[in-house]
Amino acid sequence: MKKNILLYLSVTAIITICCSKHEVIPDPVVVETKGLKEVSPFPFGASLNISLLKSRVLYQNVIRKEFNSVTAENAMKIGSIHPSENTYYWDDADYLVTFAKSLNIRVHGHTLIWHNSLPSWVTGFQGDAAAWEDLFKTHIQTVVTHFKGSVTSWDVVNEAFNDDGTLRSTIWSQHLGNDYVARAFQYAHLADPDALLFYNEYGHEYSSAKRTAVNNMVADFKARGIPVHGLGLQMHTNQNQTDANLIEAISTAAQTGLKIHISELDISLNQANNQSLVLTDALSALQAAKYKVIVKTFAALPAAQRYGITTWNVGDADSWIRSTYNRPDWPLPFDDNYNRKPAYQGILDGLN
Ligand code: XIL
Repeated sequence: MKKNILLYLSVTAIITICCSKHEVIPDPVVVETKGLKEVSPFPFGASLNISLLKSRVLYQNVIRKEFNSVTAENAMKIGSIHPSENTYYWDDADYLVTFAKSLNIRVHGHTLIWHNSLPSWVTGFQGDAAAWEDLFKTHIQTVVTHFKGSVTSWDVVNEAFNDDGTLRSTIWSQHLGNDYVARAFQYAHLADPDALLFYNEYGHEYSSAKRTAVNNMVADFKARGIPVHGLGLQMHTNQNQTDANLIEAISTAAQTGLKIHISELDISLNQANNQSLVLTDALSALQAAKYKVIVKTFAALPAAQRYGITTWNVGDADSWIRSTYNRPDWPLPFDDNYNRKPAYQGILDGLN
């Protein structure tokens, strides 16, 4: 007991001496142990790769520590979850849901309808309009029903517009007609009336035509009573994007009054595809500044509209950018070893 009191007195004395010139006593332990989920007033998440989740303890640990929302990077896409007409493959997505439940964190579903990641049974499907409608409805409702009560929200349709604001011609629009987007929302809502339904899209930060098209669609849905609750802004952006464009993207989407999800955030540093690029402090600082602008703008939205921010995977080595574009790049807030980068500090600065 005496020993403890002595220890306490000497620690207090040291702190008083060391910090007498400062008003605030720094507490490095507390700062270090907090994750984004504790610092952020809205959910902060990442998309996850299920095989990494199953196999890498380091990956699991950083997720446990930092995030309170998760999205499957690929495991809920039709090509993964519905590999043949009469077969659904739930294992990987269920693994994610079980992991999230063990942490009591949110699962956002991505994505019910998209023109990519299509299995060959869909691309080769032969049938009349009614058969296509049945395929479409059955897929949406089987997946939503399977995850009812576990998945809080869905990207119902992903990337339906071209950058010029016209509707993208896809296998879905061709077989189902242009109003397929609205029907996808209706079918999803019937399967789980409690799920929050999002329209997810990229390019809001560089295409005002696309922003307008999305907002017009939302207005039309509202007028027709089509259930839509949120907009996902993918935000696969880069360090050269202007602050004005990033701010415009977020504020225009928020004008709909819907919930806003920055749903796939990453900030590429090598849009030029320079094969010999190396990461410099200057590039890291530019990236941190862009993360800050995005987070700060999002944080300023009304609380009810802040559905959250999700980065597209966790560490730079996990990012789809390197493998998709075959170039060195460092788009995420954690480095290849899951250390926090300056980009992470940019997020913290945006939250303050
Ligand atoms: C990407 C994944 O990250 C890759 O692993 C996969 O090979 C292709 O899809 N917009 C989206 C995401 O909505 O689903 C995409 O994810 C990235 C672009």
